[in-house]
Amino acid sequence: MGVIGSLNVQGYVVPLLLVSICSFMAASGTGPVDTSTALLIRVDQSGQGDYKKIQEAIDAVPSNNSDLIFIWVKPGIYREKIVVPADKPFITLSGTEASNTIVTWNESGEIFDSPTLSVLASDFVGRYLTIQNTFGTAGKAVALRVSADRAAFYNCRILSFQDTLLDDTGRHYYSNCYIEGAVDFICGNAASLFERCHLHSLADTNGTITAQHRDSPLENTGFTFLGCKITCAGTALLGRPWGAYSRVVFALTFMPSAILPEGWDDWGNPSRQSTAYYGEYKCYGPGANRSKRVGWSHSLSSDEAAPFLSKSMIGGRGWLRPTPTHFRRNSTIALVKADGNN
Ligand SMILES: *[C@@H]1O[C@H](CO)[C@@H](O)[C@H](O)[C@H]1NC(C)=O
Ligand SMILES: *[C@@H]1O[C@H](CO)[C@@H](O)[C@H](O)[C@H]1NC(C)=O
Ligand SMILES: *[C@@H]1O[C@H](CO)[C@@H](O)[C@H](O)[C@H]1NC(C)=O
Ligand SMILES: *[C@@H]1O[C@H](CO)[C@@H](O)[C@H](O)[C@H]1NC(C)=O
Ligand SMILES: *[C@@H]1O[C@H](CO)[C@@H](O)[C@H](O)[C@H]1NC(C)=O
Repeated sequence: MGVIGSLNVQGYVVPLLLVSICSFMAASGTGPVDTSTALLIRVDQSGQGDYKKIQEAIDAVPSNNSDLIFIWVKPGIYREKIVVPADKPFITLSGTEASNTIVTWNESGEIFDSPTLSVLASDFVGRYLTIQNTFGTAGKAVALRVSADRAAFYNCRILSFQDTLLDDTGRHYYSNCYIEGAVDFICGNAASLFERCHLHSLADTNGTITAQHRDSPLENTGFTFLGCKITCAGTALLGRPWGAYSRVVFALTFMPSAILPEGWDDWGNPSRQSTAYYGEYKCYGPGANRSKRVGWSHSLSSDEAAPFLSKSMIGGRGWLRPTPTHFRRNSTIALVKADGNN
């Protein structure tokens, strides 16, 4: 996927994406009928947009909105702790490039309290953003919490050290994202597909990339990494079971020599060796050699891998919506600006 062109919206150039896999309409019956048109809200720290802060733009979206909302964030460093509340679905938050559109906060504490960006609303899309928690190495510090169904992230950078991405609940899709951390840095009980993502472990020794939290065999959750790349500062494990039925699959993923030969750990709880499901399928690179892997992990056959590769874990791709091609403006905002009162 890449930027294939741009659209000029009232003087603003909005990059258009080629999203070949996303050419379906939203499957949800309650969503907007027309997914090609969105209400555009511009965030610009210089004061030339509708709002200077991202949270102000989210606050302006009416509760239970039935419109697609496209919040376009001009490049800048936004020092904000942001919440997308549960009653504001169908918001897209889009930067221009992740390298220059940075949302940053510095907070440690409980995982539900510390996130820089908390997505509690369904049908959220994040694009071209860096989402960062700069707290550092001394404790839990979530950068992004996703606790809602049908969320997708494209070309984002998600940065912290411990519990970077709290991929909490719902079905999620991450495409071409960079995710960095050291301890359990992709954790939670969502059903998520990570495609063509780059996972970078910052730990000197014994980093843990995933801590998936599935608690019961009845839950249809787990993390699948498809066509990803792993890099490491020091040694790292692929995962350990936060929940007894933790489920993680790496497929067609590059693994460096820094991946510890055992690959997976039971987190001091041997009973989880028989309930957790950890699989690898056609991974490559010096760290992908499974000859010394823990015996309770699985080398998947094509048939065993198929359900994870077919996107069934995120409920198919019908809910992924294309980037809107038409934008309209909130006439009231324009009026307020024309009066010079905003
Ligand atoms: C549209 O403008 C009105 C009046 O200023 C405001 O109350 C509302 O929140 C705006 N909606 C959006 C989505 O910005
Ligand atoms: C939004 O929808 C919820 C659930 O249907 C309802 O409880 C709430 O009152 C609605 N809010 C507004 C402002 O209409
Ligand atoms: C983050 O905040 C802590 C105090 O809570 C402080 O010690 C640390 O220097 C801050 N880090 C950054 C990068 O601002
Ligand atoms: C890393 O894990 C290995 C195996 O569990 C253990 O022997 C070693 O002490 C750990 N190293 C550190 C620095 O925790
Ligand atoms: C995997 O590692 C084992 C032992 O460390 C070695 O004998 C084997 O040749 C390796 N396989 C590949 C494909 O490198």
